[in-house]
Amino acid sequence: MANIGLLAFFQVQVPGVPEHRVTDIFKPLASPAAAERDIGWFAIAITALIFFVVASIIVYTIARFRRRPGDDLHQEPAQVYGSTQIELAWTVIPILIVFVLIGVTARVVWSVENASPPPSTLHVRVVGHQWWWEVVYPDYRITTANEIHVPFSPDGKEATYLELTSVDVVHSFWVPQLSGKVDLIPNRLNYMWIDPKQSGAYVGNCAEYCGNQHANMLLRVVADDRPTFQAWAQGQQKAVASDVSAGRTAFESLSCINCHVIKGTRAIGRFGPDLTHLASRSTIAAGMMTNTPEHLKAWINDPQAIKPGCLMPSLKLGGTELDQIVSYLGTLK
Ligand code: CUA
Repeated sequence: MANIGLLAFFQVQVPGVPEHRVTDIFKPLASPAAAERDIGWFAIAITALIFFVVASIIVYTIARFRRRPGDDLHQEPAQVYGSTQIELAWTVIPILIVFVLIGVTARVVWSVENASPPPSTLHVRVVGHQWWWEVVYPDYRITTANEIHVPFSPDGKEATYLELTSVDVVHSFWVPQLSGKVDLIPNRLNYMWIDPKQSGAYVGNCAEYCGNQHANMLLRVVADDRPTFQAWAQGQQKAVASDVSAGRTAFESLSCINCHVIKGTRAIGRFGPDLTHLASRSTIAAGMMTNTPEHLKAWINDPQAIKPGCLMPSLKLGGTELDQIVSYLGTLK
């Protein structure tokens, strides 16, 4: 688990994948994030101006009206009561500033929320769980987890519309270079859309405290060109090899099947991530570790040691059974 950096949300680096690990909202690579960056600068400019004016007046006052030798210490400064001009000025100017900020913010919120989807729009449903992301493509009948594959959009002709909800507590979808934060709330649908301008993997995180593994609820948006995305989607749609291995038998005999789905097997649980194409994902444990046989083995052996409090129990499997299951899961491409 090398290369863990604070700036990258503790995201693991996946070898061979160009990554947008910048979690800087001032370097947007999608339209909603760019609109939010612009309004961010506008608000910063106005507040910086206010700060400059107020600080200047304070500095001037301190210098100009400081105590000097020979001052009469009992003399009060001139008292100004009921000056309509002064009171109007310090009431009206802040009101105007506030209304300008509200107006500009509302316009950006409106334009982002009401943007009409381009003809080529992908619909993805993202469901928050403690502590992972379920990712469903209704039009493709794909269910995966923690890694959202989308077509990238250098010319603005592609977009991905996200439908966001939660099965337990409130989570928040946040990929800083793609969009602002949007909450995932039980029994409610929220929406966001993204149109990554460059290919590669964008890192994100849950941005709403949702329990003790909140910080390890990591997210990747993988943007590719259309053909690569279509190839990925077809890979996810195809049935997994149905040969019955020792690992599959072991997996099906354990309580794994109560929480996980592997299409075409007895595993039909919906509580945990769908594992049908687990081996095609680059990370496991919601982005905590790269998807290698060693990491997978450590994870299955004792998830509680890696992600204390997570909802996957430590089954304490014996050596052979554990190895068989790890190698079986490795075949789920
Ligand atoms: Cu999910 Cu914080």
